[in-house]
Amino acid sequence: MKNLLALQKCALAHSRAAIRPTSPLFLEFLAPSAVQHTQLRNNSTLSADGQSSGSGSPKKYVLDKRQREFLDSALRVNQAGELAATLIYTAQTPQVVRSHPHLRPLMKHMYDQEAGHFTTFNQLIAKHQVRPTAMYPVWEAAATFLGWSTGALGREAAMACTEAVETEIGSHYNEQVREILSWEAEAKLRGEELDDELKEMLATFRRIRDEELEHLDHAVENDSKEAKPYDPLVDVIRFGCRTAIKISERV
Ligand SMILES: [Fe+2]
Ligand SMILES: [Fe+2]
Repeated sequence: MKNLLALQKCALAHSRAAIRPTSPLFLEFLAPSAVQHTQLRNNSTLSADGQSSGSGSPKKYVLDKRQREFLDSALRVNQAGELAATLIYTAQTPQVVRSHPHLRPLMKHMYDQEAGHFTTFNQLIAKHQVRPTAMYPVWEAAATFLGWSTGALGREAAMACTEAVETEIGSHYNEQVREILSWEAEAKLRGEELDDELKEMLATFRRIRDEELEHLDHAVENDSKEAKPYDPLVDVIRFGCRTAIKISERV
């Protein structure tokens, strides 16, 4: 709980901080025109029209407005989702481990990974000056209620909650990975390459997606399918996740 409070404080501090676009990283994502000028001034392999003269590293792929908006939404949704994940486990864990103490290491492992994801997205939204979702307090309350209520229903329901959430979140991360891979393919066709920061973000999204799918496996191994009533519970949680994602993309 102490850790969670620290994480939330950190998120709020990031969202309030007036971070100036000083790093080249920021410029390359959110001010591509500025970066093009920088590259034209600083990279001797570029000719006046911005084309590579054939020596040195390939020209960087510059994101268009739609792509920047996609990343903006992705980071906002991911931060909100990881906040929710930490709160779900915080509310579930005491109830689950009280009757099933052997699950303590697993619950801690999953919580620790979610806390790491949340820290990662707090840092990314601060770095790229992405506005956190205005629904933050609503998701905080909803996630805590979801964690508490499924924990109260028992181990199987808590695991069914993880299964439902990770099914939606895993496929959401997958869509983001596929989108960035399509940019990479387009860059290759043009003889360009993705910015190093974007490559790193792609690797981060892939790593987190894999960890979410690992949680999904743990849930199934721990009898999520035995929850009663399984279908309505999982359907409602998955519907809630999809709705929260759609809202957080915009609001
Ligand atoms: Fe996560
Ligand atoms: Fe997760």
